[in-house]
Amino acid sequence: MRAIISLAIVAILCQSLGAQEQAKLYKFTPGEVWPDAAGNPIQAHGGAVIVRDGAYYWYGEDRTVRSRTDVSCYSSTDLYNWKREGVAFKRDDLPEDIRGRTFIERPKVIYNAKTGKYVLWMHLEQQGYHFAEAGIAVGDQPAGPFTFLRHMRPVQYDADYKDDDPDRQKEFGGTYRDMNLFVDDDGKAYALYASEGNWTLYIVRLNDEYTGPETPMAQDKTWARVLVRKMREAPAPFKHNGRYYLITSGCTGWNPNAADYAVADNILGPWESKGNPCTGPESELTFRSQSTCVLPVAGKPGCFIFMSDRWNPRRLPDSRYIWLPLKMDADGAFTIRWQNEWDLSWFDK
Ligand code: GAL
Repeated sequence: MRAIISLAIVAILCQSLGAQEQAKLYKFTPGEVWPDAAGNPIQAHGGAVIVRDGAYYWYGEDRTVRSRTDVSCYSSTDLYNWKREGVAFKRDDLPEDIRGRTFIERPKVIYNAKTGKYVLWMHLEQQGYHFAEAGIAVGDQPAGPFTFLRHMRPVQYDADYKDDDPDRQKEFGGTYRDMNLFVDDDGKAYALYASEGNWTLYIVRLNDEYTGPETPMAQDKTWARVLVRKMREAPAPFKHNGRYYLITSGCTGWNPNAADYAVADNILGPWESKGNPCTGPESELTFRSQSTCVLPVAGKPGCFIFMSDRWNPRRLPDSRYIWLPLKMDADGAFTIRWQNEWDLSWFDK
């Protein structure tokens, strides 16, 4: 009996040790469970990766507890193996007037070289999805903690909103939903987000601190309506050879749809839509996923990683990550193909 108990204890110990000793990963396996260094599934949905001081930081929605959505932060030096740095911003740290009933989606962090601060923007939402505001927080370290600054809808524009508009845009400004941030080569940063009840995307240049829109705001000078009335969301911007690229999804909630990419010479437009960059089986559903970010591969011009979420609406914490290689063609076009597994040497082929 004693021997059996000892064996059981050894087995439990091995199991817990095993969870701590996640074997090193050498490849991406899109759609599979992606364990962090401690062996726990990574919780960074609707996220993005930034590079700082030779390390990668991945921020996203931590949906460990479905209704919470804190902002998580993971770090890596090779993009395959991720250490959980913890919660960078807690939903409980939202201001009292909105705490409790507000959740966080699609958080993104950028580094401000002028102020030396990390700036977090997020889509703040409430049940029914009519709250639709930006939340902004700053931190001194990549992993936080981030201090909440304000929540707002950055743009007031008369898009002929109805008086009974459930999003109350006449009163409070255009909705702020699926979002991303982009820092240009000149250090100017932009928030890109689905507005006007998701009908039109807005691109808004940020102030020098990246903590709000650049003021005074002037349409087509500091901000612009783009992909007007096209109903696009999940914006994933990037830049290549001086041109701007923007991958978006359609608006079908958690269900996947076809991606589109648009190209522009000026980030505030005009943007020209080029169609679905995905090709092959399930390309009309973006391989059953929705864009969240495009990450430039360090040291490899024209090479990017397309990051996308395969949402599992029944069990959101078990939503999976689809990371696929994206290599620009000589003519500035590109296609994205499914890979069961791949590693960064793919770009050298
Ligand atoms: C999607 C959006 C997600 C989430 C979801 C809720 O359209 O991209 O971030 O908001 O709707 O239904």
